[in-house]
Amino acid sequence: MTKEQKILLTGVKPTGRPHIGNYFGAMKQVIDRQNDFETNLIFIADLHALTTTQNATELNQDALDIAIDYLALGLDPAKAVLFRQSSVPAHSELCWIFNCITTVPYLQRAHAYKDATTKNHEVSVGTFDYPLLMAADILLYDTDVVPVGQDQKQHVEIARDTAEKFNRLFGETFKMPEPLILDSVKTVPGIDGQKMSKSYGNTIPLFATDEEIKTQVMKIVTDSKTPEEPKDPAKCHIFALHELFASPEELATLRQRYEAGGIGYKESKEILIANMIKFIAPLRERRVEIAKDPAKVLEILKQGSEQARELAEKKIGEIKMKTGLACEIRISNQMGDEVIVTKK
Ligand code: ADP
Ligand code: TRP
Repeated sequence: MTKEQKILLTGVKPTGRPHIGNYFGAMKQVIDRQNDFETNLIFIADLHALTTTQNATELNQDALDIAIDYLALGLDPAKAVLFRQSSVPAHSELCWIFNCITTVPYLQRAHAYKDATTKNHEVSVGTFDYPLLMAADILLYDTDVVPVGQDQKQHVEIARDTAEKFNRLFGETFKMPEPLILDSVKTVPGIDGQKMSKSYGNTIPLFATDEEIKTQVMKIVTDSKTPEEPKDPAKCHIFALHELFASPEELATLRQRYEAGGIGYKESKEILIANMIKFIAPLRERRVEIAKDPAKVLEILKQGSEQARELAEKKIGEIKMKTGLACEIRISNQMGDEVIVTKK
């Protein structure tokens, strides 16, 4: 594929240990696309995470961990700019400007806010404002493509609406970003058969130890068919995971054996454990290596922040001029020469 002259941007919330659902549903797809775009901006959404993590040590550790996770999975700092959102102040500045042109009833329609209010009556202002900070993240870099999960689609629509509103008020400034909805057709099931999710406690961690893999796979819920009975692969949670970890030939053989009868769930789980270990062990080892040198990871983040800040500062300068928060005045000095006085 030839590289598109386009900008891809995505934010990842640092929220603890990723699981294999996060990997196949989001992380892998972001990493796989890093060769397709001219500029890839991948940032750790720590300002967004502050809405839920209010502990400095935890927030910093989670931010470092997610950087290590992505590097271990193959994110290449030569191809992607990896940085922390809070290292680029223009994200917050632009969010404030958007706050001033957006109405409360408009933001009250956001699904995430509605969900939060049904669960908790004391929603923070930050949670309410979450979509406008995300709009600022996206629009600040003239982003073309935003890979996100289905649950974030509305937030990209809010970014588009906000761009239109700003452009209408202050003149053409922002590009319209397009969401790239990650292929979540395959929702990875957890060990209980529900969607794998941190909130359901049914996960298999992506960087799990061999022991953790064995324990979790052995807990996968099945029906009570005997090994001899034919089984429908589409109804088996073990099989859904085979689809992610088995080679095509092995998967075909497993399918035949399921349909003909003759494979028990115990054997199926043992095959899955072996394949998962084969896949996870090298990633885990790479992660351990990278984690040994946190200073190097911080250096990658620092360089990423510098690159991102350079892009962001240019754009926020233009935005401030358009809104009247910055100005340039040409005056004549006593010598009669024209000089430019600026307020940034
Ligand atoms: P969790 O539900 O574990 O808290 P998040 O909501 O933080 O996960 O999801 C982060 C990303 O991982 C999102 O893009 C989401 O679509 C994807 N994701 C999470 N769980 C799964 C799953 N079980 N299958 C596929 N994708 C998933
Ligand atoms: N809100 C996203 C999530 O919860 C994370 C995020 C923050 C993001 N800013 C972004 C994603 C900008 C894409 C673009 O997953």
